[in-house]
Amino acid sequence: MNIKEATTRIEDLSKELNLYNHQYYIENVSEVSDFEYDQRLKELQDLEEKFPELAYPNSPTKRVGGDITKKFNTVKHEYPMLSLSNSYSEEEIIEWENRVKKLVHGQVNYVCELKYDGVAIGIRYENGALVQAITRGDGTQGEDVSANVKTIRTIPLHLKGNYPDLFEIRGEIFFPLESFSSLNKTREENGEELFANPRNSASGTLKMQDSKVVAERGLDCFLYGVYGTDLPAEGHYNSVLNAGEWGFKIPTPQKKYLKKTDSIEGIMEFIHYWDEKRADLPFEIDGVVIKVDDYSQQEELGNTAKSPRWAIAYKFKTEQASADLEAVTYQVGRTGAVTPVANLSPVALGGTIVRRASLYNEDQINKLDLHENDVVYVEKGGEIIPKIVAVDLTQRAESAKKVEFISVCPECDSKLQRLEGEAHHYCPNDLGCPPQITGRIIHFISRKAMDIEGIGAETVEQLFSEGLIHNSAGLYTLTFDQIAGLERMGDKSANNLLKGLEESKKIPFERVLFALGIRHVGETVAKKIAKALKNIDAIKAATFDELIAIDEVGEKIAISIQQHFLQEENNQIVAGLKTAGLQFEIVEKELDSAVLQGKSIVVSGVFQTLSRKELKEAIEANGGKNVGSISSKTTFIVAGDNMGPAKLEKAEKLGVEILSEADFIKLIKGE
Ligand code: IVH
Repeated sequence: MNIKEATTRIEDLSKELNLYNHQYYIENVSEVSDFEYDQRLKELQDLEEKFPELAYPNSPTKRVGGDITKKFNTVKHEYPMLSLSNSYSEEEIIEWENRVKKLVHGQVNYVCELKYDGVAIGIRYENGALVQAITRGDGTQGEDVSANVKTIRTIPLHLKGNYPDLFEIRGEIFFPLESFSSLNKTREENGEELFANPRNSASGTLKMQDSKVVAERGLDCFLYGVYGTDLPAEGHYNSVLNAGEWGFKIPTPQKKYLKKTDSIEGIMEFIHYWDEKRADLPFEIDGVVIKVDDYSQQEELGNTAKSPRWAIAYKFKTEQASADLEAVTYQVGRTGAVTPVANLSPVALGGTIVRRASLYNEDQINKLDLHENDVVYVEKGGEIIPKIVAVDLTQRAESAKKVEFISVCPECDSKLQRLEGEAHHYCPNDLGCPPQITGRIIHFISRKAMDIEGIGAETVEQLFSEGLIHNSAGLYTLTFDQIAGLERMGDKSANNLLKGLEESKKIPFERVLFALGIRHVGETVAKKIAKALKNIDAIKAATFDELIAIDEVGEKIAISIQQHFLQEENNQIVAGLKTAGLQFEIVEKELDSAVLQGKSIVVSGVFQTLSRKELKEAIEANGGKNVGSISSKTTFIVAGDNMGPAKLEKAEKLGVEILSEADFIKLIKGE
């Protein structure tokens, strides 16, 4: 391809991808399959690699990240980023509304919105292109986090419609609860520290150096203000709706996220509605915000030093309870991370009885300035584990001693370590510390790893404390008598477990690799490594460069893999598991047939018998290649109902054969 052709192709692909992105993330519809989308993206990435001078700064490839920001530049805000004055009672809202009415001329309309619990961002657009995204910072200046913000799919890189040439849009970047819990789930599986709450994680994520990691985390953004000198609307409400027309994801009146009203009753209705319904939202809010709609009235009201007079936040009360701190205990996880836990006198909170609260780490204990026997306030936020928010100092005895973080492991007495830049303390005795050993075996047997039937965490602990196993390989040398002899186990359970172990020998290599519990090697990464290097010996022998060349494997993972196999014990475990007969090599699938060998096939439309996924699998299983778009190289198209007219036209123009689903099935069956 020459440079001229590349220019056109890059432009076409970018336009197409921007459109699909908008359809998918803003309009919730999708014209193409994920597969086709990925193919286009890959094509664009390849072209940009070949012709770097042609890559747009706002290319859709920025969505997947890759740009590294070593240091975030400080940028001055064109319009200061003020904060909101908070109120905690309805009376304060009534007073505010009365004051507003007195101070401005004419009738007042109010806009009611949700108060998103995330981090504020200001994004500048010039001639419809995103040019810079800045954090709030101290309100006068913030940090340029553009590369990271560009990975957030709901923030448009290019606008559509009648947008002003120059403006800034402000909003809140947050973690949808679903992304947050799936992130923590993955972290748990990978043996990494869990994040405490969605808000702090959103703010931490936004400041990460590697935008690729940001792209994977699934942040989202809602907008709450448009700033500029030639905005088309005269008030806030229409400005927000306009932003929706330009391609932004806006809070909509349909979802009741946005409401215009001219009365205090209307405002109260909004407050009451969301106070009750906020638990149902897929993201966290900590209140609602009421704003005067009209821009000229906003100007009339002006600002105080810190916040505008034309807006006020109403904060919801979070249910709190007080409890006695009975003790601080420490848990050691499979990676050796030590987590302090507050043991409390039982107290009712949010429909459950709370007895324990996480203290996360040493910094948190110091921040609370926790003393022995303190009376503490607990709160339940979006996170499942309740947290201690404050200490009741009036009830602290003078002689009370400060809670000091332990210096040795509560389980094995090893001296704890705290690595630079990490919040957690670690027990370094990974080979000898009981909860680390059993934690690794429990990970090994877990559902997503070896999925061994007939054994659970309790049995693992029993087997370990009886001295019958020391690692996962030990499971496979257990005898019937050893198992049946355990307390609460009988002949039947022993047989079940032996059968479960036998079955697990069929588990494919990628899952065995995940089950080994190599730090930072989660399910997906294990799959990629298994596919790339094929067997355990190749993985052990792989150089750092070979490892980081694998998709999704970065420096951290590569180092962790190398470290893992430098430990003799880990090699012995692998040897033991190999002897037991586990899969340590990838099994390449045999083809069903070769009827589609060398054929490039496009799947398009909706099907009756097979799903799209099954169709595409069938193509591969019979030697064919799935391709995303129709070209002169396409052998044929399998067309279902509703194949797009553009595709049909293209196929006809290029003379590409079109097969029905039934024809296709006959073909692969050799009929
Ligand atoms: S308006 C000058 N609207 O709350 C007013 N802020 O304390 C500018 N926030 O920094 C902010 N939801 O991060 C506004 N619907 C909303 C909001 C909202 C959340 C945050 C924002 C701001 C802080 C104000």
